[in-house]
Amino acid sequence: MKKKVSIIGAGNVGATTALLVVQSGIADVVLFDVVEGMPQGKALDLGEACPLWNSSTRIKGTNDYADMADSDIVVITAGFARKPGMSRSDLLHANASVVKNACMKIAEISPHSILIVVTNPMDVMAQLAWKTTEFSCRRVMGMGGILDASRFRSFLAWELNVSPEDVEALVFGGHGDDMVPLPRFTTIKGVPITELLPKKKINALIERTRNGGAEIVSFLKSGSAYYAPAASTFQMLKAILLDEKRILPCAAYLNGEYRMKDVYMGVPVVLGEEGAEKIVEVKLTREEKMQVKRSYASVKKLIKTLNL
Ligand code: NAI
Ligand code: 2OP
Repeated sequence: MKKKVSIIGAGNVGATTALLVVQSGIADVVLFDVVEGMPQGKALDLGEACPLWNSSTRIKGTNDYADMADSDIVVITAGFARKPGMSRSDLLHANASVVKNACMKIAEISPHSILIVVTNPMDVMAQLAWKTTEFSCRRVMGMGGILDASRFRSFLAWELNVSPEDVEALVFGGHGDDMVPLPRFTTIKGVPITELLPKKKINALIERTRNGGAEIVSFLKSGSAYYAPAASTFQMLKAILLDEKRILPCAAYLNGEYRMKDVYMGVPVVLGEEGAEKIVEVKLTREEKMQVKRSYASVKKLIKTLNL
């Protein structure tokens, strides 16, 4: 039997993530939303594409939590997306209530699942999900760093006219305006970008990465990015479902690692069938530590606002 992935929130990110899972055929999918008919319609449409994708995935759209019982992985994309001029943190209170309610249900019906939180502000929502479900912290994580790193990789590939496949990047910190792309750990086929580009250019690309979500919101006018976010979520799902042990930047619970305590934040994580199996600690310079600390302070501030 295939593993069961449930996706809460059948909007742009949720439905596109469902598409990628269905197309890959690696798991069955339940697509849930509060809007009546919408997840059913999207699931039917995706199911009808399965013959064209040679996929034997079963997908069900639903408004009933019971259909998500005994899921192996639950992805939370439910909530509200950014509008122009809004930061990710502006979504805090509205989305906290959506995520908390969803997590109470998940804890009840899928107590052994692994949770991937996408809803913004993501790091804080991951902390809320962990506190609400009382799952082991290894089974609760957030998606953000893969997306931020993918944006940085793309901008670098475009600048240097090389394939994005050959660009590796590491982004630390919260998925917010002070995320920390790290040039020292960003390489083109193993060569650090610090040897290939002037500092001024690297800084401009870092700034564009930090602003990557807002750049897309400003074009779309309503709603935020979803193709790259869904592809990033799918990369996490695949690493867990196939026990790939990939090292990917994800929001994971830090309890002393990098000298940070009681916080969900982006760090390199080994992802496998147990979830966030290991946090990889790399040695940071003083300047890098200061930047990560600044991001930590921003996430902590939001955590405090929610009394978590
Ligand atoms: P969307 O508006 O297209 O979809 C959200 C869906 O959630 C809607 O279909 C809505 O009906 C549903 N929803 C609302 N309340 C619900 C509830 N109580 N239970 C179930 N479903 C509910 O938004 P989109 O673009 O899919 O974004 C979703 C969230 O993901 C937003 O908070 C957005 O900011 C965040 N996001 C996070 C990223 C990250 O890197 N962590 C990247 C992209 C988006
Ligand atoms: C993004 O970075 C909105 O967090 C979302 O596109």
